[in-house]
Amino acid sequence: MENLIYLDNGATSFPKPEEVYVYMDKFFREHGVNPGRSGYDMCMAAGEVLEETRKLMTAFFNGKDPNRLVFGYNSTDALNLAIFGMLKPGDHAITTNVEHNSVLRPLYHLSKDHGVQVDHVPFDGKGFVDPDDIKRRFKNNTRLVAVNHASNVIGTVQPVAEIGRLCRAAGIPFLIDASQTAGKIPVDMEAQCLDVVCFTGHKSLLGPMGIGGMYVREGIEIAFTRAGGTGVRSAQRGHLEEYPYRMEYGTPNLHGIAGLNAGIKWIQKRGMRKLFEHEMHLTTLLRDGLKAVPGVTLYCQDDLINHISVLLFNIDGLEAADTGTLLDVDYNIACRTGLHCAPLVHEQLGTDKIHGAVRFGIGPFNTEEHIRTAIRAVADIAASRRKK
Ligand SMILES: Cc1ncc(COP(=O)(O)O)c(C=O)c1O
Repeated sequence: MENLIYLDNGATSFPKPEEVYVYMDKFFREHGVNPGRSGYDMCMAAGEVLEETRKLMTAFFNGKDPNRLVFGYNSTDALNLAIFGMLKPGDHAITTNVEHNSVLRPLYHLSKDHGVQVDHVPFDGKGFVDPDDIKRRFKNNTRLVAVNHASNVIGTVQPVAEIGRLCRAAGIPFLIDASQTAGKIPVDMEAQCLDVVCFTGHKSLLGPMGIGGMYVREGIEIAFTRAGGTGVRSAQRGHLEEYPYRMEYGTPNLHGIAGLNAGIKWIQKRGMRKLFEHEMHLTTLLRDGLKAVPGVTLYCQDDLINHISVLLFNIDGLEAADTGTLLDVDYNIACRTGLHCAPLVHEQLGTDKIHGAVRFGIGPFNTEEHIRTAIRAVADIAASRRKK
């Protein structure tokens, strides 16, 4: 771990701000009891942190009603609740080739076993989906458009505001997977015409793993597919209809919520835009450095406008997994190789045939020195490959 250069922030951010570790430890020791279940002081204090974090996240997404912000365990959990709860047999859904398996697989199962028809919209040569391509697929029975806000593979940010306006005009619910963007760039329920935003706490929101959730706009209803204890109105036979209880069940991940609370506050204190500018400065250095290395192929990185701090590349003649191993063993650099749980991106790029590619994901704690070392390492590996 010593001197590790961590460039796997697309998978999870690491390290977390010191404040997150400190607050989680303190909170868990002092208030680690089941919130909202009883009236004693410690329980009330735990509940207050839960509700404060609901409000923080609601404001973060420019939502109107904190009760429509529901907590779950990660974005996969939220996406499953939303997708299975919004579609029924005979419905049509539109999604894209930039999706993560946490959208693709629920939709696949709905299409395979539950009579839902699903269209996948490809991206263009630069990695962007054309909103008109989505509009052209609208049908009378289209009940969901689900789009990955930013690709965890190629880093492109999709034009969600434009897609949102088209969906709103057609009366079709619009969901975004904000796993890569929440905490990095604005996610705005109003300005982007969003209906459902699914987020995960452990990436750019700088919280721990096991916390995530969604914001569901007023008027959008999601059938519940899970039920259980809510801590209130226990005599009622069925699960509670109203938000947030409708989408929450069982004891929440309260120390995760506390970590998320500290993560958001840290981002707000530093300024999300400033943090993002830092990451994109490093991404540009990395892109320029790698572009100059003979034998390196970059994917969808020509123009870093509408892009997050994720870079995808391969070295000619080397399997991505081997590049990853060399980076790890010889240079102490952590990255992610393979298909990145987004197989259609690789299918469209053709990289599925060579077992994927190498991804560098830059976070707020990376430095120019990390980037220079990574460029030198890739250049060394590519040069030794050319000699063979
Ligand atoms: C775009 C995207 N969607 C969904 C996920 C799933 O996130 P989690 O594993 O936290 O549920 C990820 C994580 O890699 C992601 O990058």
